[in-house]
Amino acid sequence: MVQSISDINLSDKLIKWFLSNKRDLPWRKTKDPYLVWVSEIILQQTRIETGIKYYHSFIKKYPDVKLLAKSNQQQLLKIWEGLGYYSRALNMHKAAKQVLLNHGGVFPKDYLSLIKLPGVGDYTASAISSICNNEKQAVVDGNVLRFISRLLKIEESIDSLKTKKRIKKYLNEKISVENPGDFNEAIMDFGSTVCKPKKFLCQSCIFSLECQAYLSNTVKNYPIKSHKIKSPRKEMNYVIIISDDNKIYLNKRTDKGIWKNLFEFFLIKDDQMPITKSMIVRSLSKKFTFNSNKLKFHKSIVHKLSHMDLKMNFYLVEVRHNNNKMYDYKSLSKIPFPKPLKVILDDFV
Ligand code: ADE
Repeated sequence: MVQSISDINLSDKLIKWFLSNKRDLPWRKTKDPYLVWVSEIILQQTRIETGIKYYHSFIKKYPDVKLLAKSNQQQLLKIWEGLGYYSRALNMHKAAKQVLLNHGGVFPKDYLSLIKLPGVGDYTASAISSICNNEKQAVVDGNVLRFISRLLKIEESIDSLKTKKRIKKYLNEKISVENPGDFNEAIMDFGSTVCKPKKFLCQSCIFSLECQAYLSNTVKNYPIKSHKIKSPRKEMNYVIIISDDNKIYLNKRTDKGIWKNLFEFFLIKDDQMPITKSMIVRSLSKKFTFNSNKLKFHKSIVHKLSHMDLKMNFYLVEVRHNNNKMYDYKSLSKIPFPKPLKVILDDFV
C-alpha cells in the first residue's frame, strides 16, 4: 500500500539506517563545535575523501580557535592551497577573531550565534547547532534536496530559495527531537550514498514504499533544476619568468577576486584577443631584459570554476638577473598558489 507522505516516520527510519551504515569520519568522533565547524566549512565544496586529508592538516596546524585567530594569513592559505574557494579560509580567519572578541575564545554552538559568524550560513549553523547543541535545525544541502525532491516528487526547481525553504520547513517538522544531529548526518549520508544523482540504489532503498518518484518510475527526472546557462569562458595569459640566477617571478594578487592574496606568475594584462607573441614581448620588456627568441609557449589548460571556465595559457622565458619580485625556489613551499598555478609550478620544481 502506498503510504501518505505525512505518515512517513522519516526520522526513525533514517536513524536506524544510519546506525548500521554510518560513514566513519574523523569529525564524527567529537562534539567540539570548533572542530565540527572546520569540517563543515571544508566539506562545503569538497568531496569527503579530499576533505578528510585537509581536515587533518588543518586541525594539526590550528587545533583550537585561538591559534587560528592568531595565525598568519599566508600560512593559512598555504594549508588551504588546492581546495579552492579561498574566501572560505579568509572568512574562517575573520570568524576566529570574532570568536575571541565576542565569545571570549569559546566557539559558540547555538544557531543564533553561529549564523552571525562570517562564512556561516543556514546550512553550517544548522549542522553545528544540531550536532553539538541538539538543536532542531534541519540541514539542507545538495544531497538532502535531491533525496527529498524525489521522496515528495517536488515539481519546483531545487535552485529556488522557495523550494529550499519548503524542504527546510518539512524537515524541521520531521527531525528527531532526541537526536537532531544524527538525523542530519543520516540524511546527508543517505543522499550521498543511496539516493545518488545518477546511480541511485532504489532496489535497496528503505523508502521504496513511500518514494513518490520511485513509485511513478520517474526517479531520473528528479530533482528538477533550472536550466543552466553555459559557463562563460575567460582567457588568461601567464609568463613563467625564470632568471639566469634561478629565481622565479611571482606577484601577490591584491584584487578582491577569488584568488585574493594568492601568488601568480607574470600576468599579461590585455583587452585584445587573441594575444600575440609581440604583445607579450612588449609587456615583458617594460620590466625585464631577455632575448625574445627565448620566449616559448609552455602549455594551455582549462580550469573550471563554478561561474566560468578559465582558459589559461602559459609561456616561459629566461630573463637577466633582476630584483623585481623574484623568489628562490626554496621559498615556494611557504607561498600559497591558486590550484591551476600550483599544478603548473609542479612542472618546474
Ligand atoms: N557533508 C557535509 N557535512 C556532512 C556531515 N556532517 N555528514 C555527512 N555528509 C556531510
